[in-house]
Amino acid sequence: MDKISGYLGIIGTGTMGRELALNAMERGYKVIVYDQNQKQRQNLIDLGLNSVSTLSQLVSALPKPCVVLIMVPAGDAVDSVLDELFVLLQAGDVVVDGGNSFFKDTQRRAIKASDLSILYYGAGISGGKEGARTGPAVMLGGVEQGLDLVVPILSGIAAIREKRRGFVYCGNDGVGHFVKMVHNAVEYAIMQLQAEIYLIMRDLLHMDNKGIAKSFETLNSGRLRSSLMGMNVSILNYQDNLKEGLLLDAILDRAKQSGTGRWAANTILELGISAPTLLAAVDARGLSMQGELRKSLNQKYPNMGSSTVSKPDLNVADFESALFAGILCAFTEGFSLLNAGSKHYNWSSQFSYTAICDVWNTGSILEADILNIIRPAWQRIIAGDSLLEDDEIAQTINKDTPAWRKTVTTAITAGIPVPAMSASLTYFDGMRKARSAANFLQAQRDCFGAHTYQRIDREGQFHTEWEG
Ligand code: 6PG
Repeated sequence: MDKISGYLGIIGTGTMGRELALNAMERGYKVIVYDQNQKQRQNLIDLGLNSVSTLSQLVSALPKPCVVLIMVPAGDAVDSVLDELFVLLQAGDVVVDGGNSFFKDTQRRAIKASDLSILYYGAGISGGKEGARTGPAVMLGGVEQGLDLVVPILSGIAAIREKRRGFVYCGNDGVGHFVKMVHNAVEYAIMQLQAEIYLIMRDLLHMDNKGIAKSFETLNSGRLRSSLMGMNVSILNYQDNLKEGLLLDAILDRAKQSGTGRWAANTILELGISAPTLLAAVDARGLSMQGELRKSLNQKYPNMGSSTVSKPDLNVADFESALFAGILCAFTEGFSLLNAGSKHYNWSSQFSYTAICDVWNTGSILEADILNIIRPAWQRIIAGDSLLEDDEIAQTINKDTPAWRKTVTTAITAGIPVPAMSASLTYFDGMRKARSAANFLQAQRDCFGAHTYQRIDREGQFHTEWEG
């Protein structure tokens, strides 16, 4: 742990960079932060941090080999920092990109660094501002050669739960950022599933925020207990300090995204896997941004369906089942994206799903009791392709299915959009269907495009003149 004498350089002192710097300093590391802005530098000095105003001062102040953590927004900002930094560093120095970079960018940058013999890492860091300060979850990817320098620092600042560290080394090049991208896709899905339950309670059961908060509190007391679910209660109870009423009711219904969800969606399509709950959550953010159009269409298509469900037969136990099953599908799809990515990029042998469960359950936004159900399932079905293959999961989901189905069908009948919840149910129904409708698709492709088809009773490709 002492090999680098505990020095860490940090570039980027936005919220995450600053909180990580303070975290590292409080754990005994000598942290030097770089910031061009004199006022910001003074703030950092007031917080007890050493601060410099140029990258060359930063590099000179760090003992060799230097370890530099970059915490700037993903994209061009990372490349600009690297362009400057690579000129100053020497062979054997270490660079860790701790932002939410796209894994393919990390792969590209790792190649450039390797040409200069600089040891390059992409680290997915989760836990928000609070986690950065008190202990985040860190998903690291990069070369093996410098791990003795990087691991002590990153695992040293990570969260600890029941002696577990919120740190995992996932393997080479972009895999740390790939795992974080999948993490965020699951994060989007869980948030969207919870938002849909909020919408049902608000617009179908006509509950007020206090009542919804109580239900979420109940939901957070059992197997759905999680850091995201816990936040919902605070959000629903928060008073607006600009006007009378609760803050939530004053917030615009449009949700942006920073990129990870969209990259995950693109990667799902690129790798050709099925992950409809994850896709639906990204899509729902896109739909939310079309607020003006939604308002005008609401005039044209008012109250579709809601009058047919005047006394909806739904309660918190139904929501509990629906959320459990929906979230389980989101994780199942996330693991199948990890599986496809690790096969495609040859990361397969480098990390285990139980290790991923552990890091996600130790300081990350996904920290949740459901991971204590998922982890043992992966231990039982070590070489399995899907969580749904596990007998205990099957037993649970079979019990939850009636309430899950009732929640989705009631919402749909009432015209309440539940894209992630219905996608998760459709995924489940699709995955348990032994004979799908794709025979029909094969026939259609062959009929109009002579694409040929395969038969169930013999090998080979066949073509038929269907309309001849
Ligand atoms: C985390 C979060 C965080 C992320 C946003 C993504 O794990 O701490 O995933 O890294 O920046 O929450 O959010 P948006 O795409 O919604 O902006």
